[in-house]
Amino acid sequence: MSEARKLVVGAAPEGARDAGSAARAVREMFTSIAPRYDLLNHVLSCNVDRLWWRRTARSFAAILAQPGCRVLDLCCGTGDMTFALRKQARKNSPQILGADFSHAMLQRARSKTLERGPQSKSPAMPRWIEADALCLPFPGQHFNLVTSAFGFRNLADYDAGLREIVRVLRPGGECGILDFSEPKGVIGRLYRLYFKQVLPRIGTMISGVRGPYAYLPSSVERFPEPQEMLERMRRAGFREASWTPYTFGIAGLYRGKK
Ligand SMILES: C[S@@+](CC[C@H](N)C(=O)[O-])C[C@H]1O[C@@H](n2cnc3c(N)ncnc32)[C@H](O)[C@@H]1O
Repeated sequence: MSEARKLVVGAAPEGARDAGSAARAVREMFTSIAPRYDLLNHVLSCNVDRLWWRRTARSFAAILAQPGCRVLDLCCGTGDMTFALRKQARKNSPQILGADFSHAMLQRARSKTLERGPQSKSPAMPRWIEADALCLPFPGQHFNLVTSAFGFRNLADYDAGLREIVRVLRPGGECGILDFSEPKGVIGRLYRLYFKQVLPRIGTMISGVRGPYAYLPSSVERFPEPQEMLERMRRAGFREASWTPYTFGIAGLYRGKK
C-alpha cells in the first residue's frame, strides 16, 4: 500500500491522495456503474443482498413502529435498503429519507419510486436527497434511526462518518451499518478466491467499466475488523455497540445507540 493511501483513514481508491480526492474517486466510480448497479448487485451476490437488507430492516422493527419516527438511510445508492425499511414499517408511516452523493445513483432510486405508480405519491414513500454523509444538511438530534448498507465502507473518513451519524441522531436513537467483512477459515479462503478473482472479472464484464469491481475487494480488505470498528463506534459516542455476522460473516450488521 502506498504512503498516500495509508494517510487516508477511510476508503482509498487507487490514485487517492487525501480524503477529498478519495471521495471524488468514489463518487465518480458509483456514477459510472449506476446504470448496471442493481443487476450487478443481484448477480454477484446471487440475490443474498436482498436477504441482508430485509434482515437489517427487521432488526429495527421496533423503532420503525414508533409514531413520528424519522429515518435516514445514508449512502442509499439506488435505494434498496431504503425500500426494505419502508416495507418493514408496514402500516406505520415513518419519514424515510435516502441520501447519497451520486446524482446518477439517486436517479435510479427515484425512478424505482415512480415505478410504484399511484403509491409513489404516498407521503409514506421514501424521499431522496443528494448529500455528503460527511457533512449532512440536517440539524443535530433529528433522526431516530440512521442506517447505511454497503456505503459506510466507502467513506473517505470512517471516524468523521461516525461522528456525523452521532450528531444527527436523537438521544436514544440507533444506528445500523450493514457492510462486508472478511470471513475466516475455509469459507474465508473460498470467499477471497471469489471476491478477488471471479467477482472483479464478472463485474467489469457486465458494467463495462474497469476499476470499481477491483476496488470492492480492496475496500473490504481495508475496512476495520469488527473489533476495531466497534471500538471506533464507542469512541464516536455510541453505546451498546454490537456486530452480528450474516452468512458466515461475509457481511454483518453493526449497531449502536446514541
Ligand atoms: C455500494 S453502494 C451502496 C448502495 C445501497 N446502500 C445498497 O445497499 O445497494 C455505496 C453508495 O455510497 C455512496 N457514497 C459513498 N460515499 C458517500 C458519501 N460521502 N456521501 C454520500 N454517499 C456516499 C455512493 O455514491 C454509492 O451510491
